[in-house]
Amino acid sequence: MSDCQDPCHQHPESSLRRLLDNNREWAERLAAEQPGFFPRLAAQHNPEYLWIGCSDSRVPANEICGLLPGEIFVHRNIANIVLQSDLNCVSVIQFAVEVLKIKHIIVTGHYGCLGVHAALEEKRVGLADHWIAHVRAVFSRHEDLLMAEPVRAERERLLCELNVIEQVVNVCRLPVMQDAWNRGQELTVHGWVYGLQDGKLRDLGLCVGERRRTDALRREAVTAWMAQRAQETGAPS
Ligand code: CO
Repeated sequence: MSDCQDPCHQHPESSLRRLLDNNREWAERLAAEQPGFFPRLAAQHNPEYLWIGCSDSRVPANEICGLLPGEIFVHRNIANIVLQSDLNCVSVIQFAVEVLKIKHIIVTGHYGCLGVHAALEEKRVGLADHWIAHVRAVFSRHEDLLMAEPVRAERERLLCELNVIEQVVNVCRLPVMQDAWNRGQELTVHGWVYGLQDGKLRDLGLCVGERRRTDALRREAVTAWMAQRAQETGAPS
């Protein structure tokens, strides 16, 4: 380390130093609390869940769900988008389903998502505009529902929720999922939204465990969610 020319390594007080120190403490503490934890984990990878979430640093899968390393397989991108043409995301799903044999896929959006906000406000952010266009497509598909919501902040929350529903639909329509269900593999897809304000996960009530027609799945999921939303809004607080 002493002859390393990387300036980050030459300043012990740098912010990167803190990460390495934290890591050493964390690893030593976990190894002390659970002897053999790391060798055991190194020998097998057997998570039960796949998390598809936003890259936002405030939404870390393991911490939110109280899970240790080894318990959840994770894919994250801006605004938790699932695209048939995204080799990265589809490869993660294929590996999770066919190799790891995970049992649950959870698409998790979050309120206050900057990607969703940019899509709603048609804000330019740069190259990522091309990616955020997929959230804009969700807006266009559900424009009537969204524009019927007069409160802007509430409209943005609704777009976060509808985006999760659309991405759950996108997961379910992947050939790898259809094949798994045709084989009788136990596999369900869920949609959640995380609240930055309270740290709580909200279940959108989606639980797809069999091959479904895309249009019917979307229609039923959106109708059920809008009904629940109306009930919550109408209920005394
Ligand atoms: Co986000």
